[in-house]
Amino acid sequence: MCKEQIFTIFGGTGDLTFRKLIPAFYNMEAFKNKDLCTQIVIIGRRDYTSGEYREMAHRWVEKFARLGYKEEIYEKLAEKMTYYRMDFTDASAYVDLDAFYRGMGDVEHIFYFAVAPRFFEIIVKGLQLVSGAGNGKVVIEKPFGENLLAAASLNATMETFFKQDHIYRIDHYLGKEMVRNIQTIRFANPIFSNVWNARYIDCIQISALEEVGVETRGGYYDHSGALKDMMQNHLFQILTIVAMEQPESAGAEDMHREQMKVLNALHMPEDIKENIVLGQYEGYRGEPAVDADSDTETYAAVRLMIENERWNGMPFYVRTGKKLGKREMQVAVVFKSPVPGVEPDILNIKIQPTEGVYLQFNIKKPGESEEVVQAKMDFCQNCSFINQMNTPAAYERLIGACIRGERSWFSQWDQIETSWKYVDAIREQYHRSGLPVHLYPQGSAGPKAADKLLGDHGHVWFE
Ligand code: BG6
Repeated sequence: MCKEQIFTIFGGTGDLTFRKLIPAFYNMEAFKNKDLCTQIVIIGRRDYTSGEYREMAHRWVEKFARLGYKEEIYEKLAEKMTYYRMDFTDASAYVDLDAFYRGMGDVEHIFYFAVAPRFFEIIVKGLQLVSGAGNGKVVIEKPFGENLLAAASLNATMETFFKQDHIYRIDHYLGKEMVRNIQTIRFANPIFSNVWNARYIDCIQISALEEVGVETRGGYYDHSGALKDMMQNHLFQILTIVAMEQPESAGAEDMHREQMKVLNALHMPEDIKENIVLGQYEGYRGEPAVDADSDTETYAAVRLMIENERWNGMPFYVRTGKKLGKREMQVAVVFKSPVPGVEPDILNIKIQPTEGVYLQFNIKKPGESEEVVQAKMDFCQNCSFINQMNTPAAYERLIGACIRGERSWFSQWDQIETSWKYVDAIREQYHRSGLPVHLYPQGSAGPKAADKLLGDHGHVWFE
């Protein structure tokens, strides 16, 4: 039995809470997840009673929870949820919050900052008036700052109040089932682990393609862009898991040590033009809250090199973009052809929307012919209803991990710092070199220049 906890959400009426957090709690309740011995306090400025809030939240659960809505399950969750009206920018309001918590007995705190980072400092200051808060855990969302400097200052603020190992920086990609599976696929299969290096692999391609545009987030996105919004965090996390040495254990420290080695070995490209392509979808400048002259990139493709014994000389191509022809996230490993003219073997780890593994290899064409053709094995993991049922959604999994104190699937400050340094530098160089942000049509595969990034090195994007 875990100790009674209070899980407090700052930003309780925001999008993230409705779309991800409350549905995640519902799924946990439906699975009778034993981590959920917690009261959930939802803090928002709007004037709701707990009853009204529960009533409103149930509609979001119906819409966004992974598991079908059942009244009796929601009722159980609702009993744990209390709405607490408060202006969290008002320092004096924290005295009352402290009194409110005291009425709940001796508990451990978990705070979830589902608010913009500019509010973090003010909340941390206020929480100094809440007894026991500094011993609690805190979960924060990306963006961790807008650049290295802002991220460092944000981190300093958090670390002055919370213990370092009580700060959980969520990167929801680390909660995705197939991202968790990369290590198993790599290390539990000698047919892959023995050839997982530049000697046998020609290139690795990491793609996160989206159909959606910036939607209602233009104000945030226009100051961010694809490099900061997706590459610096989600895609670099995946890159390090794909490229790292096998950690000694599954524990947080061993895993982070190996991921950090990869980040530290990232080579800064000498010729930015040969290694980066930025693009913007047509019509982006007309999106709500986007600057009419914006040159913010909604697409980025980068050719990366990792300077270490395993990867010397082998490119990693990493790309992401919005308003593309399809939604697809995958890691494609393209092996070297054994003899010229024979197709390469390809292992494709499919992260979303299909979760699975595709393997392409050469066989003899059946019959009298000696022609070499490709066998294409396609394993779909989430095609099975049972697998779908048993696979927690990213937030569900990460909230559970935070409650249990498991830190290996959260971002650490040094990872964030190092990836910011890299992304800040390449972004600045790109713009300083006067390189264009290429326009691409909505629904396309992105800017043509991104094909050339590979084409010049004899590669093509694996689709
Ligand atoms: C978020 C980005 O972190 O991830 C969004 O800010 C992006 O711009 C989203 O759309 C993608 O997440 P998912 O889980 O839909 O791939």
